[in-house]
Amino acid sequence: MIQIKKVSKSYVGEVVLNSISCRIERDTSTVLLGPSGAGKSTLLRCINGMVAIDSGEIVVDNMPLSSNLEKLREFRKSIGMVFQQFNLIKRASVLENVLCGRLSYTPVLPSLFTKFTNIDYELACHYLDKVGLYDKRLQRAGQLSGGQQQRVSIARALAQQPKILLADEPVASLDPKTSISILDLLRNIREEEKISLVLTLHNVDLAMKYSRKIIGLNRGRIIAQYDTSNTSAREIDDVYNTYPEVC
Ligand SMILES: Nc1ncnc2c1ncn2[C@@H]1O[C@H](COP(=O)(O)OP(=O)(O)O)[C@@H](O)[C@H]1O
Ligand SMILES: [Mg+2]
Repeated sequence: MIQIKKVSKSYVGEVVLNSISCRIERDTSTVLLGPSGAGKSTLLRCINGMVAIDSGEIVVDNMPLSSNLEKLREFRKSIGMVFQQFNLIKRASVLENVLCGRLSYTPVLPSLFTKFTNIDYELACHYLDKVGLYDKRLQRAGQLSGGQQQRVSIARALAQQPKILLADEPVASLDPKTSISILDLLRNIREEEKISLVLTLHNVDLAMKYSRKIIGLNRGRIIAQYDTSNTSAREIDDVYNTYPEVC
């Protein structure tokens, strides 16, 4: 479980997260929903330690996010991340990209020379198979379609064997049909691997379909929280549309 306690973050005088408090339950799918500039990506980055918070606390499975480098490295192992633009090394092979997910398990010296173990290769191939791209493992990542590249980035995150998977607008660069296939894949993986999934999305219908809980963010504040089993899309739409985009 992720506990976010009064978390604040500012950039050069602009308050981006304003005393945010919420809980993200284990083994569930949670969507952060809100207009552009609401602070969704910043909150995800705070959760995985990429962005340091100014105040408050983030606790994952009773382990507080700490500025201690050794602890931070341990902590980040348990959190995988998927991005809108996939963030792959386009000239490297699909397999090499997925192996990058194993780097946090590789001791510092061997990782300089990219010495992966047999277990690393087995895991990378296993997760490539899971996302349906084992046959493409030797192809350059940049040669794949957008949907396939997102599958590679999901395999890379899984190779890290995370407890939590964070996905920042994972389908914003994809067509509607491919978006559904990627969200279906994430849902199946979440159920099979028993991990917690936290997504940022713009679309209320997709948020309803693919999450148990929706956290509505606007201007750095949580404006509403919904349990999707007893809320209608209309209700969420109403609140969402009440707040105009920041930019
Ligand atoms: N690294 C940064 N430096 C300065 N401002 C930033 C940075 N990252 C985000 N911001 C600002 O924080 C606000 C929220 O951004 P973001 O978290 O990306 O929102 P969202 O993902 O909801 O669109 C925006 O006004 C954005 O310009
Ligand atoms: Mg964003």
